[in-house]
Amino acid sequence: MTTQQGDLQFVPTMGALHAGHGTVIRAASAMGPVLVSVFVNPLQFGPDEDLARYPRRLESDLALAEQWGAAALWAPSAEQIYPQGGERHPPTIQVPPGLQKHLCGAVRPGHFDGVVTVVARLLDLVRPRQLWLGEKDWQQLVILRWLVAHLALPVIVQGVATVREADGLALSSRNQYLSPDQRRMAAALPKALQAIRGDASDPLSALRGSLSDAGFDVEYVQRVDPRTLQPCGHETAISLLAAAVRCGSTRLIDHAFLMTRQPLVAIDGPAGAGKSTVTRAFAERLGLVYLDTGAMYRSVTWFVQQRGVDPSDGLAIEPLLNDLDIQLQSLPGGAQQVLVNGEDVSTAIRSPEVTASVSAVAAHRSVRQALTVQQKAMGSKGGLVAEGRDIGTAVFPDADLKVFLTATVAERARRRALDLEQRGFAVPDRADLEAQIAERDRLDSSREEAPLMQADDAIELVTDGMDIDVVIEALVRLFRDRVAEEAWPTPQR
Ligand code: PAJ
Repeated sequence: MTTQQGDLQFVPTMGALHAGHGTVIRAASAMGPVLVSVFVNPLQFGPDEDLARYPRRLESDLALAEQWGAAALWAPSAEQIYPQGGERHPPTIQVPPGLQKHLCGAVRPGHFDGVVTVVARLLDLVRPRQLWLGEKDWQQLVILRWLVAHLALPVIVQGVATVREADGLALSSRNQYLSPDQRRMAAALPKALQAIRGDASDPLSALRGSLSDAGFDVEYVQRVDPRTLQPCGHETAISLLAAAVRCGSTRLIDHAFLMTRQPLVAIDGPAGAGKSTVTRAFAERLGLVYLDTGAMYRSVTWFVQQRGVDPSDGLAIEPLLNDLDIQLQSLPGGAQQVLVNGEDVSTAIRSPEVTASVSAVAAHRSVRQALTVQQKAMGSKGGLVAEGRDIGTAVFPDADLKVFLTATVAERARRRALDLEQRGFAVPDRADLEAQIAERDRLDSSREEAPLMQADDAIELVTDGMDIDVVIEALVRLFRDRVAEEAWPTPQR
């Protein structure tokens, strides 16, 4: 698959469209023309499942899709999708065992192999720019993200938060199997999930108990890491609590995200890789607070210089830290104001003099310890993205997403020259700039206290030749692989 068709947005469904599909279609149509497919894929139904009675009503699907803004609806035949053999065509792609060992994968053998096989085929025929899926089927979403990465398909996967009825029941084509009594009872499933708190001591037993009490046959209750789908406990700050039950003969699935704090993102990397610009924009996009730890080290450096103290004299700097109060404030529009003892130093801390000494100041153990304590306190409730050199290793080792943002020395020198020029500072010779940057890398990586280090679980992003917007998009996608819209909604702009 090498070509994409313009801005085409693709929403695959099995039809019997409802307002859940409608929300996915509407979200997609904000980004380009939408193609909705309706295909009841025999391959993803087990022999004892509801393939024969699955609701089919193409006429009303067509009217609804149009009403929700779809440009076209496509209902292929089984022969079109499986030319080699129609319904009993075996799955051609197998999902890695780890991703289907738990949750629905464990109780519906072969189901996800059938899903990835049909979606790979649909994507090959449609070649959209973006593939839109619901978070309602979280395991399916994770597995289809795996598929796209596995086949290196040039398509972006977008997830949409679960749409619910007024009483909390997640919309599903299968809800129409429910009798009026069962329909009333079904609302107890989301209610039971929502009632479990992130710090509950034994959430699985509590959930199992309340589901049985409500009259359901419990198929499974599990708590997993939302990205790896492996069982986890409360040490995972954001986890997925998922359940499948029978309400009469109808199978219902639902989940809730358990959170012990709001999301935390750590962005580390060498100087001049564009971290601050990118992090600031990323924070604004996702409604996270931007913690610019570089600005905090620059503030100490500025203060040290104001007091006439030698930046390399750790012993002389230590007592100054007691007189230092650093405040970071977000201004409307995403800019940050930095206050040192009440004085606005936002511009002063960006001067070449501060830049030249910040590594030396930040290398002192007392400085790093004082600021690390302050940063940990700022991040204890989450809801922020911190940027620096040791965030993923020393400050927030439990961050939900860790990125090591870097670029080659030559690329960083080029950007630095451009930045200095734009801000009216003298621009040094390119070779000198490169030497300065290489020297700063060396100091940052070799200092004893918290050297610049890539966390084992950080994702390295080399940004040479990437526009800022492309880098931000990449970060947003990495974030969304880990943190659902349901757990942390994107603020409306
Ligand atoms: P289907 O169940 O029709 O769902 C189509 C898409 O709509 C899926 O991405 C699903 O997650 C989303 N969706 C369903 N109910 C939703 C709700 N209440 N809120 C938000 N999104 C919802 O899932 C499938 O079909 C098939 O497995 C398919 C991907 C089409 C492959 O055959």
